[in-house]
Amino acid sequence: MTLILDGKKLSLQIQEEIRTEIDALRQSGKKIPHLAAVLVGNDGASTTYVNSKIRLCTAVGMQSTFIHLDDTISEAELLRFVEDLNTNPDVDGFIVQLPLPKHINENKIVESISPDKDVDGFHPINLGRMQLGLPAFISATPAGIMTMLKRYQIETTGKHCVVIGRSNIVGTPMSILLSRNTNPGNCTVTLCHSKTSNIADMCRSADILIAALGKPGFVTADMVKPGAVVIDVGISRVQADNEKGHAIMGDVDFASVAPKCSAISPVPGGVGLMTVASLLLNTMQAAGKSTKGHA
Ligand code: GUN
Repeated sequence: MTLILDGKKLSLQIQEEIRTEIDALRQSGKKIPHLAAVLVGNDGASTTYVNSKIRLCTAVGMQSTFIHLDDTISEAELLRFVEDLNTNPDVDGFIVQLPLPKHINENKIVESISPDKDVDGFHPINLGRMQLGLPAFISATPAGIMTMLKRYQIETTGKHCVVIGRSNIVGTPMSILLSRNTNPGNCTVTLCHSKTSNIADMCRSADILIAALGKPGFVTADMVKPGAVVIDVGISRVQADNEKGHAIMGDVDFASVAPKCSAISPVPGGVGLMTVASLLLNTMQAAGKSTKGHA
């Protein structure tokens, strides 16, 4: 029987834990943690993501502010918004949703965010601290995957983990986190990318396969070792014969892969929901309200 790594169930559990902490703060008259989210422009996927982040804040009783800016905003003006959030004592953490319009330098914006409020964990200081094993904000998707592995008690020590995709947000931090001397961790990690020549062979040697390349259905059954643990990070919008005209599809061909592996995270209902829960956990950490780590 294949174990389904249920991101919805875990996310609801985490939300419940956060709600309890926030209720206790409210009852003792303390400040409620506050997340701000900046969205520039009207990209469909980005709007959906930011809306779901704000919705989840409301669901757990966290304070939130949605700052929606026109895509004609200049880099200098956006930097001023970031500076305001950096210095606003009421805001504990904030995110600037990516991608940004072409005329704005994303790195410059990310580097302008105060590392203490960088709940996305994108600032070089947080990435560097993570690499050194120091306390840091860890970007929400890798953090969510680590929580998923921990709560489902997936053995990682000594395992060969293959990560497909070397993005700054998912693949690269994931490869670092799983190679560290932590639990989960202690894997031997192979990071595959678009220039890897024998990717199917690499995947077949994985005890844990993490697909984060953004190509729907890329991982097929012939690329998976029997009994492997498969984590699907893809969230692609594909055409579908339904009311909406589209569906969300992962990087893994679930129907063929699921029967072959020991555990798999589905899409939807897997990593995506863990990501938003991790952002809330990071905000609790930013507010100094959580005594709990990520798992
Ligand atoms: N774009 C895609 N994923 C993310 C994320 O986790 N945070 C932000 N800020 N932008 C994104």
